[in-house]
Amino acid sequence: MEQYIIKGGNPLVGEVDIAGAKNAALAILAAAIMTDETILIENLPDVRDINVLLEAIEGIGAIVNRIDRSTVRINGSTIRDVSVDYEFIKKIRASYYLLGALLGKYRHAEVPLPGGCNIGSRPIDQHLKGFKALGADVDILHGAIIAKADNLHGSHIYLDVVSVGATINIMMAAAMAPGRTTIENAAKEPHVVDVANFLNSMGANIKGAGTDVIRIKGVEKLHKTEYSIIPDQIEAGTFMFAAAATGGDITVRNVIPKHLEATTAKLEEIGCEVEEFDDAVRVRASRRLRRTNVKTLPYPGYPTDMQPQITVALALAKGTSIVTESIFENRFKYADELTRMGAHIKVEGNSAIIDGVDRLTGARVSAPDLRAGAALVIAGLAAEGITIVDDIVYIQRGYEDFEGKLRSLGAEIEKVSSEKEIRKFRLRVG
Ligand code: EPZ
Repeated sequence: MEQYIIKGGNPLVGEVDIAGAKNAALAILAAAIMTDETILIENLPDVRDINVLLEAIEGIGAIVNRIDRSTVRINGSTIRDVSVDYEFIKKIRASYYLLGALLGKYRHAEVPLPGGCNIGSRPIDQHLKGFKALGADVDILHGAIIAKADNLHGSHIYLDVVSVGATINIMMAAAMAPGRTTIENAAKEPHVVDVANFLNSMGANIKGAGTDVIRIKGVEKLHKTEYSIIPDQIEAGTFMFAAAATGGDITVRNVIPKHLEATTAKLEEIGCEVEEFDDAVRVRASRRLRRTNVKTLPYPGYPTDMQPQITVALALAKGTSIVTESIFENRFKYADELTRMGAHIKVEGNSAIIDGVDRLTGARVSAPDLRAGAALVIAGLAAEGITIVDDIVYIQRGYEDFEGKLRSLGAEIEKVSSEKEIRKFRLRVG
């Protein structure tokens, strides 16, 4: 099993290029099969989730031609199967975007029901509610969702909970459903807007993405397009908090500063200097961080995917902070791991009370999920001594060349998979 080994204590300094947004790319790859013409997608992040979804798309018969690590051509004309293999859903939940794409194009889709994951139960009742409203019969048989429709038709759908996945999945299923569809209480994340822009570049008629009411006029067919994925605001925010926690000075490049506003506001609140440029943001932490309170909310609120990262920074801040997780019911599993590094964190319900400490010390910790894993790496970079992070496969799902980018900023970090390599690292760093 691969691990990261880190020698903490170096302030991270320098510039880092941010990759395309994983959560936009996953939906866009699924939507790409909705035409029989060829789609070119650029600025794909080279991460495990993307590579698994491309295998799933190939698995149903589409032609996938990986031009290079960040570019792919897809042609869905050869799809012969509307049933997605369980092995793909087991590896990544977002394979469920193929439900909306296949239902929208073929009026039929069969996708295994995704399980929960380490941050909560994550039901998909709102996705299914939307498909039924569009005229599909939806059954769950032998662990798979079977969605079928003789004809789809426009509908007025009110989401009971703001859901990124449901908003995107319903938008795809409605794109070629005759008539008008309205999605109320829609998610407004930048990746929802990116998927709408992508579908519109294929000839769809979607208006209002980025607001809480999305209006779709179904079209007959979708056509070829060439599209570049937006930058990943969560990868960017993760490096911004790495600067904050290590007392560093990092410029994240190829970003859209507007997508980072909630993160930037919190970094300034805790004492970082943040400078915005057209497509870059610079974060400097030249003094001890200050406490604050933060509550995760749907966009444009503070992102839940940035919750573990700010908690690590606040673990080292002066004073007591409260972090409240309002999106998922179980997203503080990493708190015990941070405690092993000397943090003073008490989790009560969906809040964590954090008494800042002067220093963290390196320890052996385990990544419980993708963003918490990245946050534990940040903690190791800020801690004194050696940290080993286990289960880094989670981190590799969503961060392209994480250790390489961190090393370019001065981090002492390596990916290892044996005690021998750990010993070698310890000898080298002293
Ligand atoms: C997406 O998950 C992201 N994943 C998550 O990022 C992100 O944390 C989340 O949006 C919120 O921003 C991808 O885009 C692949 P939701 P998603 O539907 O779509 C409840 C990462 O680290 N809900 O917006 O699954 C749900 O339980 C990942 O990259 C229902 O009740 O999130 C949650 O409490 C982690 N019924 C809330 O809504 C439904 O049908 C928000 O979930 C759907 C969701």
